[in-house]
Order: sequence, then C-alpha cells, then structure tokens
Amino acid sequence: MQQEKMAAIGSYRGLPLGDRDSLQDVDVPVPQLRPRDVLVRVSAVSVNPADVKIRASLPPSQQPRILGFDGAGVVEATGSDVSTLSVGDEVWYAGDVTRPGSNAELEAVDERIVARKPGSLTFAEAAALPLTATTAWETLVERFGLTSGSRGTLLVLGAAGGVGSVMIQLAKELTGVRVLASASRPQSRDWVRELGADEVVDHRDLVATVRQAAPEGVDYLVSPYSRGNIERYAEIVRPFGHITGIDAPGGLDLRPLVPKSITWHWEYMFTRTTYQTPDLAVRKELLTTVAGLVDAKRIRTTLTTTISDFTAAGLREAHRLVESEHAIGKVVVARQP
Ligand SMILES: NC(=O)c1ccc[n+]([C@@H]2O[C@H](COP(=O)([O-])OP(=O)(O)OC[C@H]3O[C@@H](n4cnc5c(N)ncnc54)[C@H](OP(=O)(O)O)[C@@H]3O)[C@@H](O)[C@H]2O)c1
Repeated sequence: MQQEKMAAIGSYRGLPLGDRDSLQDVDVPVPQLRPRDVLVRVSAVSVNPADVKIRASLPPSQQPRILGFDGAGVVEATGSDVSTLSVGDEVWYAGDVTRPGSNAELEAVDERIVARKPGSLTFAEAAALPLTATTAWETLVERFGLTSGSRGTLLVLGAAGGVGSVMIQLAKELTGVRVLASASRPQSRDWVRELGADEVVDHRDLVATVRQAAPEGVDYLVSPYSRGNIERYAEIVRPFGHITGIDAPGGLDLRPLVPKSITWHWEYMFTRTTYQTPDLAVRKELLTTVAGLVDAKRIRTTLTTTISDFTAAGLREAHRLVESEHAIGKVVVARQP
C-alpha cells in the first residue's frame, strides 16, 4: 500500500546556508506512530543552535534528515497506548534528537515528552520555549539542586540567548539566588535586565566585570561557551562552587578547577530521550509546570523574531539568524502570524 505523504523541510547533507540545498522543501511519508506516540500537526517551531550545528555537519544520505526540536501544534491522532493526551489538544514539546523532527506538517512524538501548551500563548510564542526551558530547568533544579531556599550567586553566560533568556526568569522564579547575566552589546544588556537579571556582566571582559559585581566570586556558573574559559572560571567561581557545561567542546582541560574543588556538571537535554531513561515523563512534567508559570504571568515567552514562512526559505532565514551566535531571545518559524 502506498504510504501517505506530507510536506517537510529536510537536508540530504551538511551544507552552508548560502547553498539553497542546505534546507530543501521535500515530500516524505507521514510518520508511523509507536504505541506511546501522539501525531502532532505542527503550527510553529523554533530554531536552536542544535539545528544549525547538526544541519551543517550532516553526512550525505539518500533520505532527507528532518530537523526541528521545538514544536507547538495540535494532536491529530494518538497511538494505541497513549493515556495522557487526546485528539484536539494544543501541545508543546522539545523533541528527540534520534527521530525526525518538527520541520514538517506532522510529527510523531512520545506522549511522555509532550505537554499541554500555555493557553495564554499563541503557537509561535509557545514554540520559542520548550527546549531552552527544559535545558534551564534541568540545569537549575537537577544539576545545581537549587530551590526557593537556595542562596548565593548564579552567573548565566550568554544570557540574552535562547537558554539564558528563560534561565534568568526561572532562576528568579524558582530559586533564591542572585542572578548575574552576561551580555556584550547594548541591546542584549537591556534585554537581560528586562528579564530580571540582578546585575549585568560582560563576557568579553569576564573576570573584571564579575569581580566588580560579585567580589567574593560566584557559587554557580552556566557555561554555553566553555572553550578557552576554564582558567577564567577558576578565578571567578568560589571554592566548592558548581559549573554546568551546556556545550560540547573538544579537549577541555578542567584541571584549573581542582584547587578550589569546583564541581563540573554536564547538561544535555536529549539524555532522557536518547537513553529512554525510566524518568522520561519528567520532560512532560517540567513543561507542564512551566506552562502554569507562563499562564500565571510569572514567566514570559522569549520569542523575539517570527518568520511567517514555514518553508525551506523561511527556515534558512531562521538558521542564518541563529548561526550568528548573537541572537537575542528566540527565532520562530510559524504557519501563521
Ligand atoms: N546541552 C543542552 O542541552 C543545550 C541546550 C540548548 C542549547 N545548548 C547550547 O548552548 C549554547 C547556547 O544556546 P542558546 O540557544 O542560548 O544560543 P543563542 O541563542 O544562539 O545564544 C546567543 C547569545 O550568546 C551570546 N554569546 C555569543 N558569544 C558568546 C561568548 N563567547 N560567551 C558568552 N556569550 C556569548 C550572545 O550575547 P551577545 O550578543 O551579548 O554577545 C547572544 O545573546 C549553544 O552552544 C547550544 O548548542 C545546549
């Protein structure tokens, strides 16, 4: 039997964005549902650095790779064992790096990582948040173990970016720590202040500006750009402090952290889906909590740019903005404004 087809945006090999083949409009089979999957009709997606990095380095393949991790849309069908969602539910999710993604009309996603989207947000506003909120939540709550009773100082580097923009807000909302945010330009400095940062430091002059804002040093540091920074971290993090690396730099030498007994954590928000860990449903639970915070107006969307062109051309434009490494907030590609 001929399988039903859908429109998607895919890549056959890693190419620079200047090449129109880097992201192409393609027709692919509608995904088959696993028992715990929901089929989501995708209304909006955001582009993350993960999309950009994977797209640029794809090995050649006969089948197009469909990227896209963040998604917001409506449940169109449910697998045989789905018990938490129904057809017609408006949902958001941060996807699974091992499966075809959200840059498509329809996506099959495990119900354990899909939550109801905040009712107060449009699909575009919602699509900006799931992946970065998951990363921020797992970093603050699971790696650092922060709670409302926690004190001390948290330094969020690259704070005007996707992850930092929601991390600042969650740190202020869920924990008692003081938040230092790094930004290097007037627009990014203004943005992190608006989001609630207590102090702004500059990652181009990290040690001096952190020393000014926190003469005793910081207790927790989030590192999205780790290469070449370890000696600096050793200067500005306090003895017994904690750092979470959210990038994947090669050849990192952590020995400068030894004299202060600083702990290095790794955060990779795809760990639960990649290894199908028994606590997979934490991904759904944390997005449900974040949706509640959004609807209570305690967290706001980090959407700053909407591209209302859900085609390869629209996605190439979104990748271009994210590839600059100077995005403020999030870039979303939506089917309607
Ligand atoms: N491990 C995970 O699960 C996970 C999840 C999400 C993201 N990530 C990774 O985390 C990193 C950040 O992600 P994102 O979505 O926040 O990226 P993003 O939105 O592209 O970040 C852009 C921001 O980074 C800042 N920046 C640029 N160069 C910097 C530097 N050398 N030091 C500090 N800040 C710098 C810029 O600030 P200025 O313009 O002010 O300079 C800009 O606001 C990426 O490498 C991404 O792959 C990992």
